Amino acid sequence: MSPTCETPNCGKEAKFRCPTCVKLGIDGSYFCAQDCFKSYWKDHKKVHALVEKLHPGSALAADKQQPLELSWPGYHFTGSLRPHRQTPRRTLPDSIVRPDYSNDGTPYSERQSKSVLRVIDDDAELEDMRVVCRLAREVLEEGMRAVAPGVTTDEIDRIVHEACIERDCYPSPLNYYGFPKSCCTSVNEVICHGIPDLRPLVEGDIVNIDVTCYHREHHGDLNETVFVGKVDEDSKRLVQAAYDCLQKSIEAVRPGVKFRDMGDIIQRHAHSAGLSVVRTYCGHGIHRLFHCAPNVPHYAKNKAVGVMKPGHVFTIEPMINLGVWRDQLWQDDWTSVTVDGKRSAQFEETLLVTETGCDVLTRRLADNGRPFFMSQV
Ligand code: MF3
Ligand code: CO
Ligand code: CO
Repeated sequence: MSPTCETPNCGKEAKFRCPTCVKLGIDGSYFCAQDCFKSYWKDHKKVHALVEKLHPGSALAADKQQPLELSWPGYHFTGSLRPHRQTPRRTLPDSIVRPDYSNDGTPYSERQSKSVLRVIDDDAELEDMRVVCRLAREVLEEGMRAVAPGVTTDEIDRIVHEACIERDCYPSPLNYYGFPKSCCTSVNEVICHGIPDLRPLVEGDIVNIDVTCYHREHHGDLNETVFVGKVDEDSKRLVQAAYDCLQKSIEAVRPGVKFRDMGDIIQRHAHSAGLSVVRTYCGHGIHRLFHCAPNVPHYAKNKAVGVMKPGHVFTIEPMINLGVWRDQLWQDDWTSVTVDGKRSAQFEETLLVTETGCDVLTRRLADNGRPFFMSQV
């Protein structure tokens, strides 16, 4: 059961927690929307004072922590987004089967696989892929439902982490090459690999949630971008175009087509909408390994190797920018941002090539398969 809003006589489904309560370690404090939170604030804030009186230690500890927003002296930020404090690493029950990198961060099996392009023809293995991709879609939807002004990306990560555990899945990003969280949350000018932190989402933001699950020793990977409350027209145009780029490329997937053709389709559509295509990050093979052959660039005239055959499983995940295509890395060595600070949007699915076309293993089952953002416009 999802929690309900704590404002008296509201009773609506709660979408976020009071950020101060989160900071002070106060449980509960769920609210439906920013307006309700504001109207109840005068009364609600008494609980902060009370906790400070009863447990001066916890409030003091919270005060003494680093400030919420981090500063990296000398680093040039391209846009207005800033890194925020992260919560400690989340834990998992021992019963959850882990990938080989979960302890020291090194994906040994991935490194060994080199450029081998596998055909998955074993029925049991295909079933494993179908199952993990369906579970990953469910987990993404849980994260998507939590998006609202005031909700931190860390809270989304907590929801994703717990949704994975409930489904007996390992959250694949956790400790992959040392990645500290269980999903990626990429806000506004962040292209991909944003690290969930204590920054509350703000009305007008766009946010991408990228979920990968590991279950029965197979990975399933997908992402979507959504609006936080009302967003500007450019953001709507960008998110719609990123979605269309993915759909148009998926429609072309069938045996005999070259992996390098995906980029031509995606770039043609992006350019026709006056948008650019990120070149540094590509789609990838996925099965027992998180990232493997084929490499699937999203830009035109690329030199990717390989021809699609039934049984190939890979992702397409175009990242589309409002301004220039160039990316740069934050000092955390993960967060990729646009060099001009303009917004970027992305969608991703895991696909299985079939005899006649493809099967979108991570497809949305609810609402006619339409993505989340479409119900927001
Ligand atoms: N899910 C991402 C992808 O689509 C990869 C995230 S890797 C992480 O390929 F380490 F950043 F989590
Ligand atoms: Co991927
Ligand atoms: Co992904």
